[in-house]
Amino acid sequence: MYQLAPSILSANFNHLQEQLVLLEQCGCQWLHIDVMDGVFVPSISFGMPVISSIRQESELFFDVHMMVEEPSRYVEAMQKSGADMLTVHAEACKHLDWTLQMIHECGMQAAVALNPATSLNVLDYVLDKMDMVLLMTVNPGFGGQSYLPVMTDKIRSLREKLDEAGYRKIFIEVDGGINSVTAERVLEAGANILVAGSGVFTGDISSNIALFFEKFNQRK
Ligand code: DX5
Ligand code: ZN
Repeated sequence: MYQLAPSILSANFNHLQEQLVLLEQCGCQWLHIDVMDGVFVPSISFGMPVISSIRQESELFFDVHMMVEEPSRYVEAMQKSGADMLTVHAEACKHLDWTLQMIHECGMQAAVALNPATSLNVLDYVLDKMDMVLLMTVNPGFGGQSYLPVMTDKIRSLREKLDEAGYRKIFIEVDGGINSVTAERVLEAGANILVAGSGVFTGDISSNIALFFEKFNQRK
């Protein structure tokens, strides 16, 4: 299963509704929503009111990426706002295992995000508690950065690790600098959910999306 998860951080907020409709018309099923608190990352983006507002207008699967210190504080609120998948950074959780349990208890899918410099070893004892791993392929905080080439090996190692441990169903999502060129590399390495902000919203949205789907179809 491959999915493109357009990141609304790069959307045009004056035309957000139209752009969300267009994503669905183009065949997207996922929407990546970046929540930033100004502490875990320097920037501040948006939070619950924005998410609940777009929830009323969209059927997309809401993939909420919490770039927030101690995200356990917001698990319930995010569920009420309409998140389907809640991703927390291992670096931001005092009690990662407990936070993942909370997310499942609230009825959402749970994912762990890792910054580029964070080792895959932090996942070792929570493999049974997550539905997805998000590998940051840039340092988190801003859209429009360039893919870090060294992350291709990390994706490959994660795919091997999950296969060896018998957790083949866990998705691998990559986030940062993904465009139709880097898409090929990350897919080859074993990623199956591709976040793209500027890669989708810069230029012509429909033809950008079509290029991603072409890459997916080539691998089927
Ligand atoms: C960055 C965010 C990303 C961002 C990706 O910290 O987590 O989701 O929107 O943007 P691009 O695809 O432009 O690198
Ligand atoms: Zn993100």
